[in-house]
Amino acid sequence: MAIFGSKNNEIDSEIKVPVSLGVIMDGNGRWAKKRMLPRSAGHRAGAENLKELCRNCGNYGVKYLTVYAFSTENWSRPKDEVDQLMKLFVEFFDRYDSELEQEGIRVRFSGDIASLPDEIRKVCEEGERRSVNRKKMQLIVAFNYGGRRELVNAVKNISAKVKSGELSVDDIDENLISQNMYLPDVPDPDLIIRPSGEKRLSNFLLWESAYSELWTSDCLWPDFGFEELTNAFRDYSKRDRRYGGLSKESNEKGK
Ligand code: FPP
Repeated sequence: MAIFGSKNNEIDSEIKVPVSLGVIMDGNGRWAKKRMLPRSAGHRAGAENLKELCRNCGNYGVKYLTVYAFSTENWSRPKDEVDQLMKLFVEFFDRYDSELEQEGIRVRFSGDIASLPDEIRKVCEEGERRSVNRKKMQLIVAFNYGGRRELVNAVKNISAKVKSGELSVDDIDENLISQNMYLPDVPDPDLIIRPSGEKRLSNFLLWESAYSELWTSDCLWPDFGFEELTNAFRDYSKRDRRYGGLSKESNEKGK
């Protein structure tokens, strides 16, 4: 029985589902403009759709879903829009946490959480604390997140350890850098989806996306439903992930 959300969509069991999925929730503003609504209505519809995405990803068997909710650059938007986004964010976890709980979804945050206003930081900490024992899927909300800021943070952590003598320069390798990302236990995304027609990462998971498959569509985020997600997974199922090596087929033929 589907408890979370209203639709009961059928899962295609032939599809290879990414363990770790990233989603750039883009196009809220354009969605609202098309309907002659204020941008805030687009963000509200986007938040509703995030709830739907969680339900669908949980049912598909995704284990880690990382969504780009607010970037380090989004502070440059008009104050009104930023305030509305912050309000929506607080409301989301107030209003939907019981549904996330029923779905077994643990919530975590990735980003410069320490620099957020107190009220927001507390919502993040409380959300993480409340959901720590939920097992079906992790929802990772990239909030006040920037891929470059995450790398700067990692470099600072490592440098401090080199300075104190805990590490030497020769200890620095890719694994050590990965271990100094915000959430080192979360696997790198297998697939990153960006709706709304843009074809760039916009500072999302720069280190972690080295071998992620990318999938884009023209659909605006609030309209990105089960069908689009299934299309993305179908396409992902056909990708040959070579990680810089050769395909399995080429290896077998000795090419
Ligand atoms: C980008 O669309 C979207 C954002 C900057 C905000 C994303 C936020 C949500 C989906 C809702 C709130 C999230 C949570 C976690 C409750 P845009 O405004 O840049 O769209 P545009 O490119 O069409 O203008």
